[in-house]
Formats: sequence, C-alpha cells, structure tokens
Amino acid sequence: MISRWTVVVDRDDLTKTEVLHDELSPELGDCEVLLKVSHVGLTANNVTYGVIGDLIGYWKFFPVAAEGRGVIPLWGFADVVDSTVDSLPAGTRVYGYLPMSSHLVVRAKLTSSGFVDTADHRAELPAVYNGYLVTSQDAAYDPRQEDIQVLFRPLFMTSFLLADQLADNDFYGARTVVISSASSKTAFGTAQCLRGQGVRLVGLTSPRNVEFTESLGLYDTVLPYDAQVDVEPSVYLDFSGSADVRSTLHDRLGDSLVKDISIGLTQQKPSSDSRSQFFFAPEQLRKRSADWGPEGLAERFGAAWHAFTAQAGGWVGIARHSGPDELAEVWQSVLAGKANPNTADVITF
Ligand SMILES: NC(=O)c1ccc[n+]([C@@H]2O[C@H](COP(=O)([O-])OP(=O)(O)OC[C@H]3O[C@@H](n4cnc5c(N)ncnc54)[C@H](OP(=O)(O)O)[C@@H]3O)[C@@H](O)[C@H]2O)c1
Repeated sequence: MISRWTVVVDRDDLTKTEVLHDELSPELGDCEVLLKVSHVGLTANNVTYGVIGDLIGYWKFFPVAAEGRGVIPLWGFADVVDSTVDSLPAGTRVYGYLPMSSHLVVRAKLTSSGFVDTADHRAELPAVYNGYLVTSQDAAYDPRQEDIQVLFRPLFMTSFLLADQLADNDFYGARTVVISSASSKTAFGTAQCLRGQGVRLVGLTSPRNVEFTESLGLYDTVLPYDAQVDVEPSVYLDFSGSADVRSTLHDRLGDSLVKDISIGLTQQKPSSDSRSQFFFAPEQLRKRSADWGPEGLAERFGAAWHAFTAQAGGWVGIARHSGPDELAEVWQSVLAGKANPNTADVITF
C-alpha cells in the first residue's frame, strides 16, 4: 500500500484545514497512472478556487471522502511512479492541475502534448483543467524555470489573452486602463503585455502594496485604493472584486468608463454587477485559435511568455516550503492576504 497525505479545507470556512492520511492501493486499472506530486505554487488564484468552488465546480476535481470538506486545486509538477500506459512510464514528469495531496491517480488518454484525465468525475468539468503536459513534449518547458512555471504559467495565459482582447477591440476607444489588485501576478502580467501599446496604465492597490507595485515599473501611475483617478476615457480591469472600488470608479468616471471587466476577486467577496462583464479566457482563446491557427497562437504566447519570464524572477522572490503542515500554513497566509507581493510560495510535497 502507498501512504498518502491530503490537506482538506472546510468548504464553508476556508480557514479550517486538516491533514488526512490514508493508504492507496498500488493496483492500477487500464490506462491508469499514479502520480507523485513534486512541487506546486500557491497564490490568491487558488483561494478563488475555494471561494467560488461550488459555483464553478472546483471542489469536484479532487473529491475526498470527508463530509463538508474539499481539496483545493494547485498547479504544479508531478512524476509518474507507476503506470499501465506504455508511453507514460515511471519517471515521466508532467505539469498540470494537482490536488493538495501527495499522490493522484489519473485515467490517461494520450494527446499530442501529454494526456487528459478522463476520470468520470472530471468529465463535465472545464477541459482546460483536465490536460497534463509531459515536460519532454512541451516546447515552453525549461527545467531551470520550474518555480516560475508553477507560479506564473496558469496566470499568465489569462494576462496574455486579456491584454490581447483589449488590443483586439482597440481598447474600446479608451487610452487609459485602470487595473485593481495591481500588485497581483495576473494583474501585473497583464500590465506587462499592455506596455508599449499606446495606453496609460493606472494600477490601484492597497496602501501597503504601493511601493512594491511602483517598483515593478510596469504602471504609469500607481494609486492607493482611496485615491481619485483622472477623468478620461478608461477601461477598468477588476482583479479585486471590490464592490466599493467599482462604485467609486463608476461615480467618478461616469460615461468615461467605457468598459468594466471582472477577472478576479482577491478580496474574496463574490458579487455580480450588471455594469461589469466577466472575462472568459476560453472565448478569446477560441477566437485567436481561429484567427492565427493553433501554431500562430502558440508562437505569440511563447514570445510573450519568454519576455515575461525573463523579468519575473527579478520582481518576485521565491519562498520555499515543504510537506503538508507547511502547505497548510502557506494556505492560511495567502488566504489571510498576509503574503508580501514581492515573495511567492512554492511548496515541495
Ligand atoms: N478569470 C481568470 O481566468 C483568472 C485567471 C487567473 C487569476 N484570476 C484571478 O486574479 C486574481 C489574482 O490572482 P493571483 O494569483 O495573480 O494573485 P496574487 O499574485 O497572489 O495576488 C496577491 C494580491 O492580491 C491582493 N490580496 C490577496 N489576498 C488578499 C486578501 N485576503 N484580501 C485583500 N486583498 C488580497 C493583494 O493585492 P492588492 O493590495 O494590490 O489588492 C495582494 O498583493 C485572483 O482573484 C484570481 O482568481 C482570474
């Protein structure tokens, strides 16, 4: 038997965690692959998976037999330790969506870049989360940049597609883009993609994060949340989910606020507002796959990703942790918003 640990979270109170231990049968069925999780990143994006877990179905990816509790998904690397699929032998390294658990069994269906987990409980869930890349088949993989990849890659695809959607629509007629939670990785990745495109970038952030956000050198102006923005035609990109910030901006800008787009909710208070439109990355992905072809898209994303990763290590230092107890501690810290934006957390399992 294989000893497995899993960190579970109370679905109604994300501050309550527990480390569970159980035994996993080493017997694998047809097409099954046993993965041992290697290391993962943990950011506010993972907290969102818990905050809107019921709405989007994030709790369903890694079901656990513990009433009222669930497993938060993380992005990271894992190694095949046993397999009934010839082309996925022990030692194969993969990147994808992983549980807060030492091991995961997947039912693999091969693709050109790796495999998809076809487990029954994942069949109805968004396809983007079910694919795993085999590192030896991934052109963007660089073994020296695994930490950068686990932290930024899931976020930067959104940054890239969001910036592209704005440019694709000529910024909806605006020449200023106001971005909340400007210190977050997905927000500053978007700012990096927008630089040099003829728009003024205004970052809104908490007072304590102004200095860090300015130090990135990506925004033309950085303001604390309670400061007034200039009245000029603007697009709002909301990563904070703050109803107050939204209302203040609408009151101040009026008709000059030409587009209001919701992407995140770092403040963990889901709310809907008819003035804001939800950003749905798969839609822009589909559009650009058709416009540019899958290869053209991969080439453009690859160029943007390389430009970003060349700088990202200088913006954010890595804090390393290991094991289930430290994983639970990092979860508490990111959930509480205590984490300093100049440091990002990588956990080895
Ligand atoms: N829709 C999509 O496709 C998509 C994809 C990726 C990410 N996102 C969303 O984008 C947001 C940013 O994710 P990330 O992983 O890039 O974040 P991150 O780098 O971990 O962001 C950290 C920042 O978020 C704010 N924050 C964090 N915890 C907080 C708390 N408890 N209370 C208040 N503010 C808090 C602070 O920024 P400030 O002080 O600057 O506010 C903090 O510096 C998340 O809501 C995520 O779900 C959406």
